[in-house]
Amino acid sequence: MTVANDQFTFLQELVYKRSAMVLSDSKAYLAESRLMPLARAIGISDTGEFVAHVRRSHDVKLEEQVVEAMTINETLWFRDKRPFDALRSHVLPDLISRKASARQLSIWSAASSSGQELYSVAILLEESFPQMRDWRVSLLGTDLSREMVDKATSGVYSSMEMNRGLPAAMLIRYFSQSGSSYRLTDTIRSKVRFQQMNLASTPWPSLPVFDVILLRNVLIYFDVGTKQRILQEARRRLSPGGYLLLGTAETTSGLSGEFETVSAEGAVFYRVKER
Ligand SMILES: C[S@@+](CC[C@H](N)C(=O)[O-])C[C@H]1O[C@@H](n2cnc3c(N)ncnc32)[C@H](O)[C@@H]1O
Repeated sequence: MTVANDQFTFLQELVYKRSAMVLSDSKAYLAESRLMPLARAIGISDTGEFVAHVRRSHDVKLEEQVVEAMTINETLWFRDKRPFDALRSHVLPDLISRKASARQLSIWSAASSSGQELYSVAILLEESFPQMRDWRVSLLGTDLSREMVDKATSGVYSSMEMNRGLPAAMLIRYFSQSGSSYRLTDTIRSKVRFQQMNLASTPWPSLPVFDVILLRNVLIYFDVGTKQRILQEARRRLSPGGYLLLGTAETTSGLSGEFETVSAEGAVFYRVKER
């Protein structure tokens, strides 16, 4: 049975309250498949009944699980390819030459989901920039979802996940297989760290500044005010000359006048305008 309209409205409000994501009416069909496992886990066999239970119980843990279940965690290795080509040919060489004396670089994947985005960057650095091996490189991934943060930290992926964008040569070089799962080598895993963070909860907690912020495929789920607040916070966390990367369907246009675009390899990056 699908959830009734007022129950879906409750889910929309809950998701908005906890993550700022705007769940459109067209996502109502997702409720059944996403919530059923949670319902069964507490002995309820009907999604409508489960939503009514969540509504009555005010159980914060359960509410978090519901929000996580209704959230889109879609990600893949080297997603969209072009931004990674641009990182390799333009962005990182530029940062390397500008930071040659400090020999430090920091990259943040905000909304890192299960980690493929940040690990793709770590692999790219390992493959294409051996001269940076003695630099202090900080690679941070954050996500709202505790489950995604734990998965990313584990560095373990199913064969289906491995088949999404990872070149075969990299699979051989950076993963060990155990049954049907693949585990990233410690060489790569030890370079990154993941933690939970809600981008919509502004002002953000104290964070260092970053040379590259990947804020991809998450702004699309927020309303205009939330997007504006997040871009404002991201701007303050970019080092001078640092780069912001959004998803291909996302832009700063109409949301912030403080960025200018830099195009390379068919990808668009944003930098803070110089005054
Ligand atoms: C579609 S995935 C994008 C993953 C990756 N950036 C990419 O482009 O492949 C969106 C991620 O945003 C996270 N997310 C949603 N709302 C969030 C919030 N308020 N704060 C932090 N992360 C959030 C979700 O948990 C999900 O993992």
